[in-house]
Amino acid sequence: MDLAIAGKRALVLGASRGLGGASARLLHAEGVDVIAAARSAGEMTAAERFTPHVVDLSDRGSVEALIAHLGKIGGVDILVNNTGGPKAGPAMGQTRETWLAAFETMATSIFSITEAVLPGMIERKWGRIITIGSSGIEQPIGNLALSNGVRAAIAGWSKTLASEVARHGITVNMVLPGRIDTDRLRSIDKANAENSGKDLARVQEASIAEIPAGRYGDADEFGAVVAFLAGAGASYVTGSMIRVDGGLTRSV
Ligand SMILES: NC(=O)c1ccc[n+]([C@@H]2O[C@H](COP(=O)([O-])OP(=O)(O)OC[C@H]3O[C@@H](n4cnc5c(N)ncnc54)[C@H](OP(=O)(O)O)[C@@H]3O)[C@@H](O)[C@H]2O)c1
Repeated sequence: MDLAIAGKRALVLGASRGLGGASARLLHAEGVDVIAAARSAGEMTAAERFTPHVVDLSDRGSVEALIAHLGKIGGVDILVNNTGGPKAGPAMGQTRETWLAAFETMATSIFSITEAVLPGMIERKWGRIITIGSSGIEQPIGNLALSNGVRAAIAGWSKTLASEVARHGITVNMVLPGRIDTDRLRSIDKANAENSGKDLARVQEASIAEIPAGRYGDADEFGAVVAFLAGAGASYVTGSMIRVDGGLTRSV
């Protein structure tokens, strides 16, 4: 399927691996010129054919440097907001500092980067803001309080922004992964195995048993949905949250 976005420029955050990496690959396959940002972006091989940009989203100075760079190059047409996930843990006992750090890394960083690219999108009357969230927005996940809390704020921001910029030809959507096979999911399974004293394979079996599709998702299955939302054909999809979860979320 030709998504009719060849020649557009995209910035994908958290693009060195996992969901961001797959989103970058799938956009590149559509002929999009992809800037791939992450802390380890400098280590990406030339074979990946992205323009790497080193950024640490937990460091305000590094975020400001990325924003300055975006100003110099005239912005992007497609922004994929993605960050590393926060540490697991319960709601009770989190400190103010932990909440502020999670909010700064996952929320205010992407709010500021989005703010920086919007004027160019408005001028060109075309733009795509796609934010990677979590199924935890719709069905909070136990022991992931920071993720559930901060992502709920991001969902409110994304929906509000969508209605503000729709008339400029800019769509703003979220894609919610359930359990997609990435480093992040593997480390969560490992931590659950260690905490429960159970075998890793047993923990994974139990996790998969909750998914109607009967398996974890593949990162490319996620990236394909991001690419679709970036495509010309998705021009009337905005303010939406699209699940990519194999049926995991039980609500309608
Ligand atoms: N996989 C799932 O099933 C799932 C489910 C629900 C929610 N999510 C959420 O979706 C997001 C992506 O998940 P994933 O599975 O792809 O995670 P991942 O495999 O851990 O990849 C995270 C990406 O973010 C980058 N990153 C991490 N910290 C960063 C920082 N401070 N500054 C800049 N880049 C940073 C990493 O690159 P560097 O280390 O090079 O910086 C990497 O490219 C996470 O927020 C995760 O919690 C994932």
